Amino acid sequence: MAQLWGGRFTKETDKLVYNFNASISFDQKFYEEDIEGSIAHVTMLAAVGVLTETERDDIIRTLKEIKAEVEAGTLDISDEYEDIHSFVEANLIDRLGDTGKKLHTGRSRNDQVALDMRLYTRKQVAAVDAELEDLLQSILQIMKENTETIMPGFTHLQKAQPITLAHHMGAYFEMFKRDRQRLFDIRERMNYCPLGSGALAGTTYPLDRNMTAELLGFYGPTLNSMDGVSDRDYLIEFLSALSMIMMHLSRFSEEVIIWNSNEYQFVEIDDAYSTGSSIMPQKKNPDIAELVRGKTGRVYGALTSLLTTMKGIPLAYNKDMQEDKELSFDAMDTAKGCIALFNGMLKTMKFKKENMRKSANNGFTNATDLADYLVKHGVPFRDAHGIVGQVVLYCIEKNIAIDDMSLEELKVICPVFEEDVYAAISMETCVNTRLTIGAPSKTAMEQVILLEEDYLLKHPAIQA
Ligand code: ARG
Repeated sequence: MAQLWGGRFTKETDKLVYNFNASISFDQKFYEEDIEGSIAHVTMLAAVGVLTETERDDIIRTLKEIKAEVEAGTLDISDEYEDIHSFVEANLIDRLGDTGKKLHTGRSRNDQVALDMRLYTRKQVAAVDAELEDLLQSILQIMKENTETIMPGFTHLQKAQPITLAHHMGAYFEMFKRDRQRLFDIRERMNYCPLGSGALAGTTYPLDRNMTAELLGFYGPTLNSMDGVSDRDYLIEFLSALSMIMMHLSRFSEEVIIWNSNEYQFVEIDDAYSTGSSIMPQKKNPDIAELVRGKTGRVYGALTSLLTTMKGIPLAYNKDMQEDKELSFDAMDTAKGCIALFNGMLKTMKFKKENMRKSANNGFTNATDLADYLVKHGVPFRDAHGIVGQVVLYCIEKNIAIDDMSLEELKVICPVFEEDVYAAISMETCVNTRLTIGAPSKTAMEQVILLEEDYLLKHPAIQA
């Protein structure tokens, strides 16, 4: 057990207490950020005259050595240390003696961990954004290729009106675009540096907080040292954004699962993204989509957990906050993995356009347009609605589509129908007369696709 704080204690820590308290098993994930923060700290300490230039250079060189050895696998981050901060500092002291002992001047683990977590999270925000950007590229590609691919649109999972595959995909484009905007906003708000907050009340050393903030790529220092060490809002916001992303992915997955079912057969998931059954030889299961849907719960769990952890904590740092890590790391890795896998599945998925088209034809998806036809010929809408209801009932009894009725049959129900009714209710007419922006017509979709292309061009992935 290697600790930084033995001085005022007369007994060894109980082994169980030590293990309960230790965080090295998970906070080693940000060893790189811890070292990066320490390098900025000592650079600043030398600039303000607290360390000599030689001390600074020795510490920085040794910190870089430690990092290189960890990366090369020649230095093990072992659990004999309480946390990653102790590991780095102890290794530094082993190698440098008294000079190493000066690293922690004017710093507390409270502002150190606040910094490390922020640096780590900032990178993760960028990594998630990059995955989303990639997913949007795939969705846009499908949109471009399918402005004429007619499929039924649903409400209540009942066929409602014809749309196109491009239009359906476009809905998800919007969702993931908003998710990216959320990530951007979070990064803007979180990009202030807590280093220099000390334990809670700053320090008596003449620290240059603007300098460390700048060295670490922040917009500036945080403005209240108590808030600096105990703010985890940014992380809660990030977990909330990840939850929203997972919710969107889960909805999308649910649709893929339905589309891939034997009953729908709108898509076929590629063999590389499907799995078989150990007993039923005929099966090809959409496990990836189901797992993405299933993993959504654990990301929500991380959000709920941290909100609950933070709700009763008095200012400033309390050990409860160590609980900000494990589930958050898990949520970040889960979300990144899910976006990447979903994207792979989407890119390789085959759309069975004929089946989509057939399904749109056979579900009375043009009933609204038939009513609109009557309205255009002077029938009040409420009457038209009733007439089309009778038409649909007739078709259900005969098991045919509206388009299959002869003009004579139609005229029996309402004499207003003429030969031009067939063109008025064709799938193409239904879709392509919906011209308002945001609607499924080819014309409207092509305008939207240009806007989305422009959006992607102007919004490359966030830089870490
Ligand atoms: N492992 C701790 C955490 O993650 C580091 C900060 C410890 N500070 C303290 N005063 N015990 O929060």
